[in-house]
Amino acid sequence: MTMLIDQATHLRSLVQERRRASVIAVTSGTGGVGKSNIAVNLAIKFSAAGKEVVLLDADLGLANADVLCNIDLPHNLSHVIARKKELREVIVKTPGGFGLIGGASGLARMADLSDSDRQRLINALAELESRADVLIIDTGAGISPNVLAFTRAADHVLVVTTPEPTAITDAYAVIKVLSRDGAERRISLLVNQVTSAGEGRVVHDRIAKVARQFLSVTVFDAGYVLRDEQVPLAVRRRQPFVLGSPRCPASTCISQLAIRLEQGVAGAASGGFFNRMGKWFRR
Ligand SMILES: Nc1ncnc2c1ncn2[C@@H]1O[C@H](COP(=O)(O)OP(=O)(O)OP(=O)(O)O)[C@@H](O)[C@H]1O
Ligand SMILES: [Mg+2]
Repeated sequence: MTMLIDQATHLRSLVQERRRASVIAVTSGTGGVGKSNIAVNLAIKFSAAGKEVVLLDADLGLANADVLCNIDLPHNLSHVIARKKELREVIVKTPGGFGLIGGASGLARMADLSDSDRQRLINALAELESRADVLIIDTGAGISPNVLAFTRAADHVLVVTTPEPTAITDAYAVIKVLSRDGAERRISLLVNQVTSAGEGRVVHDRIAKVARQFLSVTVFDAGYVLRDEQVPLAVRRRQPFVLGSPRCPASTCISQLAIRLEQGVAGAASGGFFNRMGKWFRR
C-alpha cells in the first residue's frame, strides 16, 4: 500500500516536472487600452476550460488586477522583491478560478527595480512555469526596462491597441522594440474597443504590413474585442465581465480569443504550446 502511494507520488512529481506553462505577456504602447481587463477575463476563460492559470500583475507601480477582481491580497510582488516571501507564496486564488499574484500598487521603488531585483523576479517566474499551464503577465504600458524584461520572459507577446491613431503609433513603437531585442517569441496584435470586426482587421493589417516591410517581423492577428458598455460597468462593479455578463459582446470576443489561443495549444506537439501558433494565426 505504502509502495503504491510512493509510486503515485513519484509519478505525479514526474508529471509536474514535465509541465511547462505557456507564458503570455499582455502589453501595450499607450496606457488605458484595456490590457488588465483582457488579461483578467482571459485568465478566467482559460481557467473555465480546465487550465491551471496564474496571472502576474506586473504593472509595477499601477497594479490593479486585484481591484478588477475585488480581492484583497495580503502579499504581493513587493514582498517578493523585499525577500519576505517566495513568488509561489503570494498567489491567491480568485473567484474566477485563476491564481493571482498582485503587483505593488503605489510603491514608487517598484517602478524602477534594480537590475538584480528584476533578474531575480524573472528567474522566479521559471519556478511558476512548472506549476501552471498558462502564465499570463500584465506588463503595464510602454517600453520601460521592467516591461521589456517581462516581455522577454514570454513565449508570446499580445500587444493590445485601440483603433485610435495614437494607440496604433505607440503599439507599432512597442513592436519595433520587441522585434530588435533578439528574443524568440511570437508577437500578435489584439485590437480592443472596436465597433466592428472589420475595424479590427483594418488596424491589424495596417500594422502588420508596416512591420513586415520595415522591421521584417510577422505580427500575428489575435483578433479583436468589441467596445462594450458592460466593460466599464463591470469595472465599477468590480466583477470581471465574463463572470457578470457572460453573454455580452466583449465576453464573446474573449471566448474567441481564448479558443484561438487554445487551438494553438492543441496544435503544439512540442517545444511549448505557443511556439506553433503561427499555424493558425492569420498572417
Ligand atoms: N472593450 C471595451 N469596451 C469598453 N470599454 C473598455 C473596453 N476595454 C477597456 N475599456 C475601458 O478602458 C478602461 C481601461 O482598461 P484597463 O484598465 O484594462 O486598461 P489598461 O491597458 O490595463 O490600462 P493601464 O495601462 O493603465 O494599466 C476600463 O476601465 C474600461 O472602462
Ligand atoms: Mg492595467
